[in-house]
Amino acid sequence: MHERNGNPLNICVIGAGYVGLTTGTVLASFGHSVTVVEKDAAKLDVLAAGKVPIFEPGLEELMAEDLENESLRFSSDLAAALEEADAVFVAVGTPSSPDGSADLRAVDVVSDEIARLLRRPIVLVIKSTVPIGTSDAVADRIHEALGRRSDELAALGVLPASGRVEELCEVVFCPEFLREGKALLDLVHPHRIVIGTGSTKALDLLKDLFASIDAPILVTDRRSAEAIKYASNAFLATKISFVNEMANLCEVTGADIIDVATGMGMDERIGDKFLQAGVGYGGSCFPKDTKALLHIADTAGYKFSILEAVVDVNERQKRRVIAILRNMIGDLAGTKIALLGLAFKPETDDIREAPSIVVAKELLHEGADVIGYDPQAAQNLANEVPGIVIAGSAEEAIEGADAIVLLTEWEEFLQLDPVTIRSRMRGDLLIDGRNVLDPERLIQAGLRYHGIGRRIGDLGDVRDPGEGCESC
Ligand code: UDX
Repeated sequence: MHERNGNPLNICVIGAGYVGLTTGTVLASFGHSVTVVEKDAAKLDVLAAGKVPIFEPGLEELMAEDLENESLRFSSDLAAALEEADAVFVAVGTPSSPDGSADLRAVDVVSDEIARLLRRPIVLVIKSTVPIGTSDAVADRIHEALGRRSDELAALGVLPASGRVEELCEVVFCPEFLREGKALLDLVHPHRIVIGTGSTKALDLLKDLFASIDAPILVTDRRSAEAIKYASNAFLATKISFVNEMANLCEVTGADIIDVATGMGMDERIGDKFLQAGVGYGGSCFPKDTKALLHIADTAGYKFSILEAVVDVNERQKRRVIAILRNMIGDLAGTKIALLGLAFKPETDDIREAPSIVVAKELLHEGADVIGYDPQAAQNLANEVPGIVIAGSAEEAIEGADAIVLLTEWEEFLQLDPVTIRSRMRGDLLIDGRNVLDPERLIQAGLRYHGIGRRIGDLGDVRDPGEGCESC
């Protein structure tokens, strides 16, 4: 258990997804009493058995500690959890709708249930990423419904002296900034805590809740807090798309993106993080949140030009690998292409919006045989892209391959021996889609090497990467 200051509180977390589970587990480890409420019976069974349904390093161990000391429990009974809660966290999904907007149905359902069941004052903390203005709308929705129950609430003796139902449910927006694979670290040592509220009572309670965390707290209004979440992810995505375009420019001008990014990063105003060129960003947040922010801007009648370009560049970057392959080995029909790494980043089994999906589908469309290997995500990708053949190891995947494309920078790929790689392949092309391998050693072993924006190796002509990729 972590060192804890402040008062222990009763917390209800709604939604045992990635955010709810990690947040609930960490708050319980701070000594608060946490009930995670989940509707999905199958998921509850897994959790009740002490198992974690997602891949997150350290989570199962911390959860076991919390369960052991009874600071954490799982339940399907929201009414019972609300009977005791001081704070209620909403951590339900807000996935992309087909038009790119955030689907808020789960947030609405939870809001209505809370408004129907509430019998004591709470602070409602929205953690789900929601469009600007949603928390205000949730507050209005709940307060109106509570207003219709005011006689019942007065009879229960829970209405404040002021008679204002608003004080029964103070709504706060408090965004999460968790990275997959590093969620526990990010929760315990965040760069900042953002609290969107105008209520002193809510602020005091949240400060108590987060008393064990040593991080600056920014207090703002709910709309600004909602905007901070989207702006942060959109800005990080912008850095990636910018450096990817710069890498593409390096390829046609003879500069090297590794040196360029290093030189840029030495300026503290730019910073050296998130400047790794590659095959594009994926995951459950950047693609979803950039598109949702574009939709928010569009709905508000504002043209967010930079962000449009960021999304567009990322889509093209994923497909660029195909152009490079075509350029360097010609017609892809009948070739065997090995994909090393299928997850959207290392240390996860998550393939949501992973570049591997686009690359594999396009290669199959071109008539190539696609063999993929990933230490964690292979089965997930096979479910998404049925035509791909899954190998049990990197060595197996590259056997007889005409070309290798490294898409995810898993540590184990860094250990591969260039001479062995070359001897097992039929062809000699290696595309390092994350710029993590040692080009000199690969070239010495007789491989043709292509990095993203690297001056080293055989770059070929990749000036027209976007064409002919309509299938994905
Ligand atoms: C991200 C944010 O970092 C986190 O704050 C937010 O809450 C959720 O979204 P995550 O999706 O877990 O977290 O992944 P992250 O490690 O940020 O990487 C996102 C994608 O960007 C990956 O596909 C990664 O490969 C790519 N990336 C990252 C680059 O291509 N280049 C970089 O320099 C950094």
